[in-house]
Amino acid sequence: MEPYRNEYILKDGQKLIVRTPEEGDAQGLINLMQTVDNETKFLSREPGEFNITLENEIDFIRNKNNEENGRFLIAELDGNIIGNCYVGIEVNNKRYLHRAGMAIVVRKDCWNKGIGKKMMQECINWCNQKGIEQLELEVVTQNERAITMYKSFGFDIYGTKKHALKYADGTYADEYFMCLFLNGMKPE
Ligand SMILES: CC(C)(COP(=O)(O)OP(=O)(O)OC[C@H]1O[C@@H](n2cnc3c(N)ncnc32)[C@H](O)[C@@H]1OP(=O)(O)O)[C@@H](O)C(=O)NCCC(=O)NCCS
Repeated sequence: MEPYRNEYILKDGQKLIVRTPEEGDAQGLINLMQTVDNETKFLSREPGEFNITLENEIDFIRNKNNEENGRFLIAELDGNIIGNCYVGIEVNNKRYLHRAGMAIVVRKDCWNKGIGKKMMQECINWCNQKGIEQLELEVVTQNERAITMYKSFGFDIYGTKKHALKYADGTYADEYFMCLFLNGMKPE
């Protein structure tokens, strides 16, 4: 697919670049994932579980960039990759093509600059361009920051998945299923 790139000036004047990754970004992306897995309990991996090789990460970037039904974007600040997001159709059967899922992460030292919201908007824009009717996600029920952000875009909670995550210490977390209906497709 065509490379994508957008630039923003953040509240503090810094320039944020949101773009599709290149193969040379592989190590930066590995570093990002290893950092964020240590910073929050709200993601899907235990610290140290992200063990991908550079070669496999390069393949991952290539595959993502070739996807027609999804878009993987990185957020770059001062030459460093400090966030990423993915939006895409998760099941390619005809009966599921109206639905997309998404995921987003920003490195903790870059929170509260408005980066999460810019990336969310990129995901929603992609859905609108593709004529997607509903954008879906799962979020840990204690993740107030993310839930507040999703609600500010119009997402609502439609259910709870009990014990969705089990942590290494044996405790559990529940997840909300949240959905944003687009293009006037919200059911009565
Ligand atoms: C959720 C996350 C992506 C937000 O990124 P961010 O760059 O800090 O987001 P922004 O600066 O754009 O702020 C987004 C909104 O978060 C909400 N928010 C910020 N701080 C908050 C707080 N302390 N309590 C509740 N909501 C808060 C606000 O709605 C804010 O928007 P506003 O500033 O216009 O009011 C980021 O915190 C993150 O990566 N967390 C860890 C990974 C994660 O949880 N990902 C989502 C998994 S479903």
